[in-house]
Amino acid sequence: MQDELERKREELLALVDEAADSAALERMRVRLLGKKGEVTLLLRRIGEVPPEERPAYGRLVNALKAEVEERLQRRAEELARAEEEARLAAEVLDVSLPGRLPALGTRHPLTLVLDEIKEVFLELGFAVAEGPEVEWDYYNFEALNIPRDHPAREMHDSLYITPEILLRTHTSPVQVRTMERQAPELPVRIIAPGRVYRRDALDATHSPIFHQVEGLVVDRGISFADLKGTLVHFARRLLGAERKVRFRPSYFPFTEPSSEVDISCPICRGEGCRVCGETGWLEILGAGLVHPNVLRMARYDPEEVSGFAFGLGVERIAMLKYGIDDIRLFYENDLRFLEQFRRG
Ligand code: DAH
Repeated sequence: MQDELERKREELLALVDEAADSAALERMRVRLLGKKGEVTLLLRRIGEVPPEERPAYGRLVNALKAEVEERLQRRAEELARAEEEARLAAEVLDVSLPGRLPALGTRHPLTLVLDEIKEVFLELGFAVAEGPEVEWDYYNFEALNIPRDHPAREMHDSLYITPEILLRTHTSPVQVRTMERQAPELPVRIIAPGRVYRRDALDATHSPIFHQVEGLVVDRGISFADLKGTLVHFARRLLGAERKVRFRPSYFPFTEPSSEVDISCPICRGEGCRVCGETGWLEILGAGLVHPNVLRMARYDPEEVSGFAFGLGVERIAMLKYGIDDIRLFYENDLRFLEQFRRG
């Protein structure tokens, strides 16, 4: 009987080792230790054993049961380890697979130029001011020394909301708003970038919506020399150190004297070409010394202080800088155009 149990023991332990995976091992556990399992049956058979052999039989079968349990436990751990390793091997991440790149937008050329313009003036100690695009007639015209019947209003034919409210035709009203807010503090030193509106049809050089940057400096003893120094520095810093700058007498109701400012054509370097209309010069902005009436209306005393102001068109400068020959390109959102301004 001992021999028979020994054979059984070897057979059962071998069965445990044969289980190829956790599921098979579980089935094996039931087959050996379950209610009708082989080891369970061996234990039950103690009743058939002659009484004097029972203690020895019981000891042997219990030892066998313990050994089977231990072997099942060991096999379970082996299989779990192997299965974990197989799972990890199958799950390896292929880090060489290229990722999905999100499509990145680019900054608009007008934003790029505007940022450069701001940078030049911020370096000079200017602050950035803002005003509303829907503006009172008062700030857009009256306070800038353009009374109701003034012929200069015709150049600013605009889009009215009510007889007293319009879409601003220039950024100059921000001059007045800034002075009103600040008076009598000195100095005033601001630029005011923003969108402006005119009743123009869209063509290669006109747009009913475009962008300007206004500039204003008010302090004691400001002269035309300050205006020239500032704008020459600006033009060269933005458009090339070799640019010549020319001040031409002009007229604006809110400045006196007034000037239009030209730079030597960057395309032909002043020789004369199609872009500059064979003149060698390109107009980039209007400027002048702030009219005493404007200072007075904004509560500064023209006997005490003086100032200069200027206004430039952002589209114009961007067209010059990047050699763009049609203003409509800025507003069409054509990716073939915009992609060309990708940086880095
Ligand atoms: N506001 C003028 C325009 O839109 C431009 C301008 C000219 C602004 C002279 C100024 C200036 O500040 O001094 O046509």
